Amino acid sequence: MVASEIRALFAVAARPEIVSLAGGSPYVAALPLDAVGDMVGQLIASRGDIALQYCTAQGDAGLRERICEVMALEEIPAHPDEIVVTVGSQQALDLLARIFIDPGDVILAEAPSYVGALGAFAAYQASVRHVAMDDDGLIPEALEEAIRRTAAAGRRAKFLYTVPNFHNPAGVTLAAGRRRRILDICQREGLLVVEDNPYGLLGFDGEPMRALRADDDEGVVYLGTFSKTFAAGVRVGWAVAPAAIRDKLILAAESAVLCHSSFAQLTVREYLATQPWQEQIKTFRELYRERRDATLSALSRMMPPGCHWTRPAGGFYVWLRLPDGVDAKAMLPRAISSRVAYVPGTGFYADGSGGQYARLCYSFPDPARISEGVRRLASVIQTEIQLRDDFGPAPETL
Ligand SMILES: Cc1ncc(COP(=O)(O)O)c(C=O)c1O
Repeated sequence: MVASEIRALFAVAARPEIVSLAGGSPYVAALPLDAVGDMVGQLIASRGDIALQYCTAQGDAGLRERICEVMALEEIPAHPDEIVVTVGSQQALDLLARIFIDPGDVILAEAPSYVGALGAFAAYQASVRHVAMDDDGLIPEALEEAIRRTAAAGRRAKFLYTVPNFHNPAGVTLAAGRRRRILDICQREGLLVVEDNPYGLLGFDGEPMRALRADDDEGVVYLGTFSKTFAAGVRVGWAVAPAAIRDKLILAAESAVLCHSSFAQLTVREYLATQPWQEQIKTFRELYRERRDATLSALSRMMPPGCHWTRPAGGFYVWLRLPDGVDAKAMLPRAISSRVAYVPGTGFYADGSGGQYARLCYSFPDPARISEGVRRLASVIQTEIQLRDDFGPAPETL
């Protein structure tokens, strides 16, 4: 295991003078905190004997019923028995890695991929092979090629890990027309899909996309979480899996934590039963849309030539490509001195490549701070370009 680049950054980025476009924290201050506080107080007063007790490793049955209602928004026809409640989707990633990965096993994952998933896979010594994406998400031909190469090396991937909606960190979404193709390829090859979907309900235009799991309940393990649609601090997520995998997930969860927090689960269950949660998701969507707009507008006004970036239709992230010869990791100390933080792209590649990229997260600072952050970043990049022109590219990019 190695220290996550993001965690190491958090301490510095949290300083008030720094505009942090680094950590992917949801803006939980937009929740009706008084109402949530009253709800939690009533929960303890009326059902504290259950909320403060152990529960089953699969998770509270009432919460699992509610989770089915949440997933119906993405057309997933799930039954509560198929669901395992987890400590955020991060624990589901860890449990899946624990079940499936022996040292050296191949996992296919998008290029780039969510740093927390790469961390979980690395902890079990997986060999991650990245599969290219473009503005429409994972490229089916690239997936076929990756499967072919893996087979040519006498190997077989354990699963494909994908974030189809509003990708972390790339900010792109798997196009509707590609979803069937990806599933067809995986079905043909007998390749399990792990669909990690924290941001699916946070799209800025139109209805949520149909989940991969909606079209294949035998070949797709779906991971969901309340971290971005309610509160990251309650640490409640879930996995929906075919029966054999679900049973292993329950056993693995039991040995890891005995059972999950009843208190956290009943808090979420109560929130879904008594609070206008769909309205709250709309509030979050509006808020993040405004921040996305502020980010894109500032980038197009201020970034020097040679920079390129994705235009997310939902979620939290913009993936910024720096001009040739400018390295995001080498530039970071100068960015911090200029009071702006981001995450260098290297954290999102198992092989440490991606130095030309930076992840910008717009979920937390308000639009004025975002503009100021992008202004500071643009000026740092401009200086890097000058240094590159005067002294040649940073050693990391050679
Ligand atoms: C793609 C992705 N998967 C999983 C997670 C983990 O979320 P949590 O453990 O809070 O549910 C995150 C958090 O940022 C994420 O972006």
